[in-house]
Amino acid sequence: MKNVLETILFPKTRLHERQVEQRIHNKTIVITGASSGIGKEIALKFANITCQLVLVARNRERLDDVKRLIERKQKAKVSVYSLDLRDEAERICFLQAIHEENESIDLFVSNAGLSIRRSIYQSLDRLHDVQRTININYEAPVAIVMSLLPLLEKNGGQIVNVSTINCQLPPMAHFSAYQASKSAFDTWLRSVTPEIRKRGVNVTSIYLPLVRTQMIAPTKQYNRMPAMSPEQAAIKVINATMKQKARFEPWWLKFAKLYSSRKVSM
Ligand SMILES: NC(=O)c1ccc[n+]([C@@H]2O[C@H](COP(=O)([O-])OP(=O)(O)OC[C@H]3O[C@@H](n4cnc5c(N)ncnc54)[C@H](OP(=O)(O)O)[C@@H]3O)[C@@H](O)[C@H]2O)c1
Repeated sequence: MKNVLETILFPKTRLHERQVEQRIHNKTIVITGASSGIGKEIALKFANITCQLVLVARNRERLDDVKRLIERKQKAKVSVYSLDLRDEAERICFLQAIHEENESIDLFVSNAGLSIRRSIYQSLDRLHDVQRTININYEAPVAIVMSLLPLLEKNGGQIVNVSTINCQLPPMAHFSAYQASKSAFDTWLRSVTPEIRKRGVNVTSIYLPLVRTQMIAPTKQYNRMPAMSPEQAAIKVINATMKQKARFEPWWLKFAKLYSSRKVSM
């Protein structure tokens, strides 16, 4: 039953390889959260293209593995930056290095993220849960966008936000810190979009459903629920990016929104 639902809810899409090759050739792409899950799959999809990939996450070993896999194809060149994006000092050093080593950036994929599932009543002494989700899901991408904007403006660059369908639906219990922080960046980015578009920078917001990555592994209920594969999620992100779409969301989200708005108003 789960497999049937997955086929219906997440119809398989193929990567538009020729379009990707044309758009990405010789471009510089920064991807945060590239050591695992969706970010890693996005990076791997660019392996066959002559381009410069800048991959960011904390786990150096995993980043080096991704770099090795990509460079085996002898096309894309990879630089890895291992840092905790929540740490302001580390972030400043990283952004300084990006400015020193690149005259322009063509694509920034804001993907690094942290999800926490916890009841408010198990969180009363855990304000740090709110702080760490806000730091990685909101403050860090805002700081990166602010710093990279001048580099993105040089060649009409693009910002891609790997967001969640939860930003489009009424909030779910137990995910308050995650949802509030993801919604904060989603709102911030959409709010600055009209200004930065005027300077030639495009913005794409990707509203993903459940994706089977290590992020959802601790929530056992999710094992039984239909979920997208990380590779399919990466393909959706890349195809929407190549088409410079303002947004991607699963086909059924509009019905979920309608249903939930009726439920809320009842
Ligand atoms: N999985 C889902 O169901 C789902 C659904 C909708 C949206 N999303 C979004 O998709 C994005 C990717 O998540 P995923 O599912 O692929 O999860 P994942 O496999 O856990 O990947 C998260 C990535 O973020 C990096 N990261 C986390 N904290 C970091 C920090 N403090 N500093 C630097 N890097 C950090 C992780 O690397 P290190 O641990 O090496 O630092 C990892 O590469 C997230 O923004 C998430 O909100 C996921």
